[in-house]
Amino acid sequence: MDWTGDGLALGLFEADIQEDGSLVEAYQALDKALEGALSDAIADAEFKGKPDSSVAIRVGGQAAVKKLIVVGLGKSESLTLETLRRGAAAIAKASQRCKTLGIQMPAIAEDSAATAQAVVEGFELASHKDTRFKSKQEDEEETPDVLTQVTLLGLGDQASTIVKAQQIVSGVILAREMVAAPPNDMDPIAMANLAQAIADDHGLKLDILEKDACEALGMGAFLGVAKASDLPPKFIHLVYEPSQPARKKLAIVGKGLTFDSGGLNLKGPGSGIETMKMDMGGAAATLGAAKAIAQLKPDVEVHFISAATENMISGHAMRPGDILTASNGKTIEVNNTDAEGRLTLADALVYADKLGVDAIVDLATLTGACIVALGGNIAGFWSIDDDLAASLKSAADSAGEKVWQMPLEAKYFDGIKSPIADMKNTGPRAGGSITAALFLKEFVKDTPAWAHIDIAGPTWADKENGYSPSGATGYGVRTLVNWVVS
Ligand code: BES
Ligand code: MN
Ligand code: ZN
Repeated sequence: MDWTGDGLALGLFEADIQEDGSLVEAYQALDKALEGALSDAIADAEFKGKPDSSVAIRVGGQAAVKKLIVVGLGKSESLTLETLRRGAAAIAKASQRCKTLGIQMPAIAEDSAATAQAVVEGFELASHKDTRFKSKQEDEEETPDVLTQVTLLGLGDQASTIVKAQQIVSGVILAREMVAAPPNDMDPIAMANLAQAIADDHGLKLDILEKDACEALGMGAFLGVAKASDLPPKFIHLVYEPSQPARKKLAIVGKGLTFDSGGLNLKGPGSGIETMKMDMGGAAATLGAAKAIAQLKPDVEVHFISAATENMISGHAMRPGDILTASNGKTIEVNNTDAEGRLTLADALVYADKLGVDAIVDLATLTGACIVALGGNIAGFWSIDDDLAASLKSAADSAGEKVWQMPLEAKYFDGIKSPIADMKNTGPRAGGSITAALFLKEFVKDTPAWAHIDIAGPTWADKENGYSPSGATGYGVRTLVNWVVS
C-alpha cells in the first residue's frame, strides 16, 4: 500500500489472524512497512477480528502513518453492510488527531460501490455531533486536529457513490436534529419553515395547509388534538416529482407531535413526558427522507405529509368523552386524549388516500405498547399488502434498521368499538399497538397498499450504538430511501 497520511484504518476478518495470533501472509508486507506496529497492536489487544472489536495505536519511527486503527469484521462469508457501517463508526470514533485518514475495508460480495456507501454512511453518521444548543462550540476550540480528508482505499473511484451516501446521511442528520431539538424550538411553525427550506433548496413543491384550510377539509380529528395549543397547527405536504415520467407514486406520512403532554389525560411521573419532544420522529423521518430523495432524484413521485401540532392542556383542550369527526366522516369518541397520534394521522391518511398513490407508508411514535412488545430497538409494522410488507422489510434489512411485522388482527377491532360513535381512540392495554394500527386502517380506503410503522422505540435511544448516538437516532430515513428507490 502506498497510502501516506496521519491515520490508516484497516478492516480485518477473523481469518486474517492465525491460530497463534500472527497475521496472515497478505498483511506481512504492510506490517513491515509499519515497522511491526500492526502485529504489535493485534498481539497487545489480543485482537481476533471479531465484529465490534477495535484497536487504535500511535505508530512511532519512520512509518508513513502516525496512527493505526484496526477494526474487526468477523467472518468474511457473513460480512454484512451493517458490519461495515459499524466498523466504519468505530474508525470514526478512534480517528481523533488525524487530519488525513485512509480507510481500507474489504469489499462485500465484490461490490465496491455498496461497500463504499456503507463505509461512508457509518463513518459520517458516527462523526456527527449536535452542538446547536451549546453556548460554546467545544469541537472547534478544544480539538486542534480536525479531520479534513478521508480517503477510501482499494475500492476504485467511488466519487458518485460517496456523494449519494452523503445525500442519504444529510437526510438522517436532519431527522436527528429535528427530533433532538427542544419542543420550544421545533414547534409546528418551525417544522413548516423547515419544509419550506427543503422545498426551496431542492426544488420540491410545498403546500402548507393552515388551520382554516384544514377546517374546510373537515379535519376534525387533527384539529381536536391541536385545539389546546397556543401555536397554530400546520398540515405539511411536500411533493417530489421526477423530471422523467414517474414509475410509481408513493406517499409517506409522519406523525408530527412536536410535544405530547398527554392532554387532559396528562402523562404522569415515569411516563417519559420529558422526552416527548421526540413525538415528531415520524415527521422527522418523513422530512429527512424528502431531503435525501430530492437529491437522489429517483424516477418516483413521492408525497411527504405531516399534520404538525402539539398535544397540550388548556381551557380549549379536547376532553375525554368528546366526539370528533374526521375528514372521511368517521366519528371518534376520544376516551383518552393521550392517544392523540392516531387522531392526527387519521386526517393525514385520509388526505394521502385521496392523492391516488400506489402505496402509503406512515411512520409514527405511536404506542408504548409497541415498545413493550418489541423492545426499544425494533419497530413494529403492519401492512394490508404482502408485496409492500416484503419490500419494506427488505428496505429496512439493508438499511440495518430493525423491523418486525405484526398482525392486523381484525377481531381486535372489537376493543375500540364505541357505544356512541363509530369507534373510540383507545382499546384495552393488551395488544395496544395492534388496535392503534386497526384504528389507522379505517382511514385508508382507496389506496391498494398501506403500511404503518410504529417507531416509538427506535426513534430515541438511551445509549449510543455503533453509528447511532444516544438520543435522537434518525431512524426510518434510510429504510424509506431504500423503499422509494427500490
Ligand atoms: N407518543 C405516545 C407514544 C410513545 C410512548 C412514544 C413512549 C414514545 C415513547 C403516544 O401518543 C401515547 O401517548 N400513546 C399512549 C396510548 C394509550 C393512551 C392508548 C401509550 O402508548 O401509552
Ligand atoms: Mn400521547
Ligand atoms: Zn404521542
